[in-house]
Amino acid sequence: MTKLEGDVSYPDPAIGASSHVPDPDGLRRAAAADPAGFWADRAAELEWYEPWDTVLDDANAPFFTWFVGGKTNIVRNAIDRHLAGPNKNKLALIWLSEDGTEHRTFSYFSLARQVNQMANIIVSMGVRKGDRVTIYLPRIPEVVFAMLACAKIGAVHSVIFAGFSADALQSRIDDSESKLVITADGSWVNGSIFPLKDIVDDAARHTPSVENVIVVKRTGQDVAMDPLRDHWYHDLTVLPIAKGRCETEVMDAEDPLYILYTSGSTGKPKAILHTHGGYMVGTYTTLKYCFDIRPEDRFWCTADPGWVTGHSYLVYGPLLTGATTFMFEGGPTYPYPNRWFQLIEYYGITAFYTAPTAIRSLMRFGEAWPNRHDLSSLRLLGTVGEPINPEAWHWFHRVVGKQRCPVIDTWWQTETGMFQITQVPGEPQKPGSAGKPFFGQEAEILDDAGNPVPDGEEGFLVLKNPWPAMMRTLFKDDERYVSQYWSKYPGKYLAGDSARRDADGYFWIIGRTDDVIKVSGHRLGTAEIESALVSHPAVAEAAAIGLPHDVKGNAIHVFVVLRLGYEPGEGLAEELRRHVSQHLSPIAKPDWIDFAEKLPKTRSGKIMRRVLKARALGQPEGDLSTLEE
Ligand code: WT7
Repeated sequence: MTKLEGDVSYPDPAIGASSHVPDPDGLRRAAAADPAGFWADRAAELEWYEPWDTVLDDANAPFFTWFVGGKTNIVRNAIDRHLAGPNKNKLALIWLSEDGTEHRTFSYFSLARQVNQMANIIVSMGVRKGDRVTIYLPRIPEVVFAMLACAKIGAVHSVIFAGFSADALQSRIDDSESKLVITADGSWVNGSIFPLKDIVDDAARHTPSVENVIVVKRTGQDVAMDPLRDHWYHDLTVLPIAKGRCETEVMDAEDPLYILYTSGSTGKPKAILHTHGGYMVGTYTTLKYCFDIRPEDRFWCTADPGWVTGHSYLVYGPLLTGATTFMFEGGPTYPYPNRWFQLIEYYGITAFYTAPTAIRSLMRFGEAWPNRHDLSSLRLLGTVGEPINPEAWHWFHRVVGKQRCPVIDTWWQTETGMFQITQVPGEPQKPGSAGKPFFGQEAEILDDAGNPVPDGEEGFLVLKNPWPAMMRTLFKDDERYVSQYWSKYPGKYLAGDSARRDADGYFWIIGRTDDVIKVSGHRLGTAEIESALVSHPAVAEAAAIGLPHDVKGNAIHVFVVLRLGYEPGEGLAEELRRHVSQHLSPIAKPDWIDFAEKLPKTRSGKIMRRVLKARALGQPEGDLSTLEE
């Protein structure tokens, strides 16, 4: 092996030799020579009602299509095919409640029954193939049933993270024109109730498309029920329509599977659209290869199904590979910071996938908490969501993985659907680097003019090849799809991140280049935070920036210009933080609020967040030629 530069970890070569990819370099070369062939071979490992005619059609680029002419349904491969073989009575899903007192398990067979029942109920509400269904549920098994039930009947799910406020929920329901909303009475968050149903009621006052709301009982507090619109799920399951059998709809490979809203540079969140065929092949392949998933695995992805990580690697990926997926309702430190380690031990988790921010928050509590537990079932660790700092990488590797487990850093996005820059077990790892492009992919670092920058220098990260799980477009907004992702460098996918590549071909992600802030791995748009602030009567103008934070990666710092008659003060700052929490989401709550007389703007009136950031960090303010006055 050639000598690699820098801090490198050489995992036990036996890990690689026995993995699904014993010869990563060989496969990388083969896939580079024939990406379509690589993907066709992977797709052939799954079941299709009818085979595809063309693997990749790029005639209408950047509207790429995959497995054209093929007929399948992601549920056929996530559930149905397992029922015909030895997986039938194997555990598909294990779930534990936040307080640890409720434990529910579902074999592939019983998962199928639950999904079928919910699918029949959804159909009985008038939902048909192509219709959108909004899912606003806590981390409970019903969120998995609901997603799979929609997919099964060909409806398009739109999962909204159950921490978003009524305003955010309303705009997303409205944009998707959902006829049906599936929610719960409430969710448990560190022992308190978050009132999901009240939030849906608030949101649905302004969403004419909603005909029905299904309510899962989770917390048991009293909630208002509209007799014409709202239905308890447990009441529906006893009706004759709620049969345990339901045909899986035959879908075109390119039929939409889901939309998922994510933040962009402007105020309106973007609805990323994914399809049945390519997304299925992409999530299946990446999970299988990068996490070396085997039938006996118990895979734990700590993400919420409200984000793409939960879609691809908590729900779809593990079921497509026939593994057992573990879902925990709670977070890492409630009631004590040993929670996750206790569950790894108790459930015998073999592969564990989480975010750097969670690792950093656990590091603060010291090694005694993980050391209380037997973590020897772990075989592999993974991270996602933001760059992992080397200290956190080493802690994860040493304290959690006991220096036995590869740490697979996975760089990808809601838009990409599947891992793009990552590693497979057995490859040397550089702590802090996401690794190399996945098989069949090529990435580049470009300067503003589109020229590749020399190795080691920072620039814009682009992906050069289409891949099966790529978004197909932005729902109802083809134009923005092209302008946002494919216009800066025609023919290349603009990721929105800055990065550098080293001499060994490893990629080092630096951060977003647009007005997106990654806070604890969550993706927030500055415009969304600002418009939540401006909706408060005291606020005339606001600007949000991200500043480095030890645990969260970035913290939210806002600058606020008050309307005449309002006085700055601690009380008002606290009220504004609460306001953002209620009008956008608790995850968007500003960490610091500064009251300003005015904001630095360009002569055309655009807020110069770059200048605010430089000032806050005490750095040079750069080119100020466009600053007004
Ligand atoms: C942005 C996408 C898809 C996973 C969850 C986040 C950042 C993601 C990494 C990583 C460095 C990362 C990027 C990217 N990001 N993974 N391994 N190393 N940065 O999905 O919410 O769509 O955010 O998350 O900035 O553009 P997302």
